[in-house]
Amino acid sequence: MRVSKSSSLLPGVQRGRLVKINVDGKPIDAYEGETIAAALLAAGIYHFHLSIKNKEPRSLFCGMGACMECMVTVNGAYNQRACVTQVADGMKIETCKDPEL
Ligand code: FES
Repeated sequence: MRVSKSSSLLPGVQRGRLVKINVDGKPIDAYEGETIAAALLAAGIYHFHLSIKNKEPRSLFCGMGACMECMVTVNGAYNQRACVTQVADGMKIETCKDPEL
């Protein structure tokens, strides 16, 4: 369950509009202005893609677009960085796609 209000610790921060994104065929809640990575982690999804060599699950690491550990497929476009890509209503995200694709 997502926290639906801004934290009282950060009174000046307002949460964006609630939107729905589709992750591996399942609808999840997200908020405009947050990244795909934030939405995935909030939904309990920790495996974003598979490593090329050993096909091991990878997830958020640097959180700032530098390490390429958070790649997901967004609306059919492979290898999009979840940590720097903002959600949009109706966005279709696929995780753990075969890295050879
Ligand atoms: S977590 Fe490093 S590029 Fe996204």
